[in-house]
Amino acid sequence: MHARIALLGGDGIGPEVVAEGVKVLRQVADRCGHTFEFTEALIGGRAIDETGNPLPDATLAACQASDAVLLGAVGGPKWSDPHAAVRPEQGLLGIRAGLGLYANLRPVKVYPALAGASTLKPEVVAGVDMLILRELTGGLYFGKPQGQSGSAPDREAVDTLHYSEGEISRLMRMAFDLARGRRGKVTSVDKANVLASSRLWRTVAHEVAADYPDVQLEDILVDACAMYLIRRPADFDVIATENMFGDILSDEASMLAGSMGMLPSASLGAGRERAGAGRMGLYEPIHGSAPDIAGQGIANPLATILSCAMLLRWSLDLPAEADAVEAAVDAVLADGYRCRDIMTPDGKLLDTRDMGSAVAERIGKG
Ligand code: IPM
Ligand code: MG
Repeated sequence: MHARIALLGGDGIGPEVVAEGVKVLRQVADRCGHTFEFTEALIGGRAIDETGNPLPDATLAACQASDAVLLGAVGGPKWSDPHAAVRPEQGLLGIRAGLGLYANLRPVKVYPALAGASTLKPEVVAGVDMLILRELTGGLYFGKPQGQSGSAPDREAVDTLHYSEGEISRLMRMAFDLARGRRGKVTSVDKANVLASSRLWRTVAHEVAADYPDVQLEDILVDACAMYLIRRPADFDVIATENMFGDILSDEASMLAGSMGMLPSASLGAGRERAGAGRMGLYEPIHGSAPDIAGQGIANPLATILSCAMLLRWSLDLPAEADAVEAAVDAVLADGYRCRDIMTPDGKLLDTRDMGSAVAERIGKG
């Protein structure tokens, strides 16, 4: 197939890890007879420096003209002044909203070879294989009014947690559909004992559940969920939750896998009515721009490479190619290759480029 992929390297280690993702995608294209056309565009701090805008119109247009978007990371100390009018993160929120990407999939899987890399006991993290499904374009991140007013000592600030029934039901439907292809369990996470938006969330979750009698639904309050993620993480299958809760719980859950450097994500919108194409999606590692190690060539590219596997599966409808990338990552880890963040006592340390090459070399090998 022929596919167009927009590349938004962004800031810090973003461009370094995206380069390794592209290396792997080129290998997939060569081995499997596809052509992938890559277009680079600006986002985040670099876009602010070059255009004054964290999400230039040309970037959104390039993404809209593509079948999928691969993003590195945005942000860094240079742009983190809380008084600044423009911030790199606005680019990320803008592209999520601009492309209508309401569902954020964050799979958390513990690789047996890396069980020792987690700070939790190996017997607690053994068998962890969950999918956090985070609502991405509603809630506190986008609700209006939002802002600060007044002057010292009477300053005030407000954020608004708003959800419509439609926003909740489309996310919950995706959660149930995904659970059908997994272990058949959805955990809906809310704060229904306090928040009106969470009571609507829980009501709609149960209404949607009526259409999925084969899938089990449980409700857990967000504070309890934070506790169970550490105590009995292997019990979770699909966790469906609102934007802010999902942001926090997914960082917590990432520690089960030992490092954020291992965790991919996909942000999906509605399906596209085009032959041979899947859903429009944006794919990114869940880690940030890591300015402390940027430019040193030591970042772990596996989260980005695994995000490319999700891109192949969800936006290009190439499940066999996605499986091949994931199998190549498994093989590299089983062979003992590591980056610094997942180093184990007997591991063989690789830098960013060599790790990308190690995965690429294994694509298509039996
Ligand atoms: C994430 C990040 C972003 C978020 C930030 C950078 C705006 O933390 O993708 O989880 O809060 O959504
Ligand atoms: Mg986050």
